[in-house]
Amino acid sequence: MSSQYEFSCDMRTFDAQNSMTEERDCVLHSWCIQDAWQAPTIVGGRGAYFWADDGRQWLDMSSLAECNHLGHQHPRVVEAIREQAEQLCFVTNAWGAAPRAELANLLLDCAGFEGGRVFFTLGGADANEHAVKFARQARGLPQGWVITRDRSYHGASYAGMAFSGDCRTQAHVDAQAFRVSRVPPPYAYRCPWQSADPMQCGERAANAVAERIDALGQSEVAAVLMEPNAGTNGIVAPDNYWPALRSLTRERQVYLIADEVMSGFGRCGEWFAWQRHGPDGVPDLMTLAKGLTGAHLPLGAVVLRQPVADALRSQMLLTGLTYCGHPLSCAAGVAALRSYQEEGLIARSRHLGQQMHQQLLTMQRRQPLIGDVRGGHGLFAVLELVSDPTTRAPLSDWPTMHPALQRLLQRAFEAGVSLAARGNLLILAPPLVIEETALSDALALLEKLLMLLAAELQDEPQRIGAR
Ligand SMILES: Cc1ncc(COP(=O)(O)O)c(C=O)c1O
Repeated sequence: MSSQYEFSCDMRTFDAQNSMTEERDCVLHSWCIQDAWQAPTIVGGRGAYFWADDGRQWLDMSSLAECNHLGHQHPRVVEAIREQAEQLCFVTNAWGAAPRAELANLLLDCAGFEGGRVFFTLGGADANEHAVKFARQARGLPQGWVITRDRSYHGASYAGMAFSGDCRTQAHVDAQAFRVSRVPPPYAYRCPWQSADPMQCGERAANAVAERIDALGQSEVAAVLMEPNAGTNGIVAPDNYWPALRSLTRERQVYLIADEVMSGFGRCGEWFAWQRHGPDGVPDLMTLAKGLTGAHLPLGAVVLRQPVADALRSQMLLTGLTYCGHPLSCAAGVAALRSYQEEGLIARSRHLGQQMHQQLLTMQRRQPLIGDVRGGHGLFAVLELVSDPTTRAPLSDWPTMHPALQRLLQRAFEAGVSLAARGNLLILAPPLVIEETALSDALALLEKLLMLLAAELQDEPQRIGAR
């Protein structure tokens, strides 16, 4: 019997000369208004630079989505992908794959999780979902509570949105239905408890987690899921926060999951941000993505410490995605990890990150627009812009972006520097391979643009006060 409808797929000839118009018209782009999307078509990159089909080039000051830690087109990773593709592109989890085992072993070594195990995912959101599944299963609480915090970001899948305290997606998901309970963040610059200093804010924020576990009942809580240091929402936790979380969760026998999707692989000056705290910071599980392959191919992972892995040994694992542990991505991951190691990129990030932080603090002394400078551990920094440094009045209400800041971004773009911003926050996270001169030139440009911005704002009703 013939079908009622005849479908025909006329493959249109792709118009390479007019590819921007084509993409604008046919692709649904994430996190933007479709009609406003107007980006150049990128055709290549090398190190900290990438370029468009019309010859324009940009210095990448955000590693795109804080993911190109190794820069663009890292030769070793590209070669590893090529070699693996020639040998074996894909085999499911039901069969072994050499790069999968090698990458798992490398990750366990870097984490110091002897006897642990690794579950590979496709990216960060599903790594967090799986970490929560494993924590619940290992604790024997299939619907156990998970505590996360306001103004966090753990991914844009439905459970990812439920974990995240992100104002953009709050209305789209019922966190309670996912058994997620959120607490206020350790946001020292605008401390929810009006604390006198960052350490006090860190302490109070950690106490809020302890109180929430106690209120829900510790036997009902499976895990606390949090970013150990930095997140794309621009909050950098005070130094005492993570060790306090570790100790209070251990006391209450609740698993601590470190979301290292953004902070891992040298971004915060260590392989993983929790390592800055030594044994006092070690989580039970951690989630990874982004820098895991330096964004050369999609890959995420959940890394479990031995006690959690042991709890799952003889249980059926009721989960899996077709492409979990894809050999091509794992081969890219192996090459990425060996590159971090052999090129000394973790230490480089620590060293350059300190330099960048000092330069930003100096800039802050000259620029009343810069209310707060956060970071200092690795090549990651957040500048929070204010309209008055004394009252800390925000430049615009969160999460909107002041038009003057949009102009600043556009001017940087025209000057060949790609900057990332959210609301009042400028997020600096260049590839770990960025050259020192390129970094300081970009910071000098940023300061010039901030001066211009301040001058423009003088003419607006809300004036920038003196520091
Ligand atoms: C801390 C953190 N967790 C999770 C995610 C989600 O990762 P993905 O976009 O790969 O799903 C992100 C992405 O920005 C992130 O920054």
